[in-house]
Amino acid sequence: MAGYKILLDCDPGLDDALALLLAHGDPNIDLVGVTTVGGNVGLDRTTKNALELREYLRFPTVPVAAGADRPISGETRSAEHVHGTGGLGSVVLPPATLPLSETSAVDFIIETVRALPGAIDLVATGPLTNIALALQKEPAIARWVRSFTIMGGSYTRGNATVAAEFNIYADPEAARIVFAADWQVVMIGLDLTLQAQANSTVINRLRQLGKLADDLIVPLATFYVDPTMPDWDGQAVHDVCAVAYVARPDLFTVQPARVDVETAGEFTTGMTVVDFDPPIANALVATELNVSGFWAYVESVYARVAREHTVPQPSAEVPGSDQPTAGENPAAGHAS
Ligand code: BDR
Ligand code: CA
Repeated sequence: MAGYKILLDCDPGLDDALALLLAHGDPNIDLVGVTTVGGNVGLDRTTKNALELREYLRFPTVPVAAGADRPISGETRSAEHVHGTGGLGSVVLPPATLPLSETSAVDFIIETVRALPGAIDLVATGPLTNIALALQKEPAIARWVRSFTIMGGSYTRGNATVAAEFNIYADPEAARIVFAADWQVVMIGLDLTLQAQANSTVINRLRQLGKLADDLIVPLATFYVDPTMPDWDGQAVHDVCAVAYVARPDLFTVQPARVDVETAGEFTTGMTVVDFDPPIANALVATELNVSGFWAYVESVYARVAREHTVPQPSAEVPGSDQPTAGENPAAGHAS
């Protein structure tokens, strides 16, 4: 029986898709739901991507619920320059045939953690809008979750701006609400995730996994190249780290800290201000990754999914649909 029940709130997104792959593929994780938020690309695209990934990766019974299409306040920001206009870089998946949940992401989060108090590991890998709105509607979710982990923030420098990491920058108000809530946030920030780079050695190993690697994993992990870095050593798989933390906390060094979010700075909006010597901590901040252990874990899960993916899927009739199912139309490819 799976040890962890993960509800993943995400904005797929290259690395969100790789995080979804890990959460789906680790037999120790029961993926209980996927909620989407606008972030890397607009909500319509992040939701489309989540629905298509669900069918392509074959977890058709896991609900996908759509959430906020804009931040609580301020302008909407995207990261299309990193993830491509569709959000999954060059990857094009077969259209989804299975429906979106009729429940909103906010209600889905509340209902899921209410139904299983103390059992859900909530993981957020996009802007924190859905989580903040859920907390405003039902503050008790902070007590009901088993754990809450985010990919977001940093204690050194940002990536969206010098001071701010993208997920926090995209909705600083939401992040402030989330860090002020009555729970301990596990912050897997840039300082940690930049240690998880899919460099050429990792990519060469991933290529050995066959078709799933050719069609999905490698294109997702190699699409973005930072033109400002001449010694570029590969894309960091930020969001994968947040899911990995839940299942393999032994691979991470974390330290208690007080984290506050700057919402009104002239140059620092979206900055996470981290005090590692606070009177009262509200977070555990990740500082160090066991890099070889991390990749051994991630690659073993991806290898498992890649093996299973070669087994033809029994075709399932989708009521009311004349579309082919994902199993009948496995021709994912990447546009060049
Ligand atoms: C984070 O921002 C997004 O672009 C990625 O998906 C990740 O969640 C990294 O700063
Ligand atoms: Ca993300």
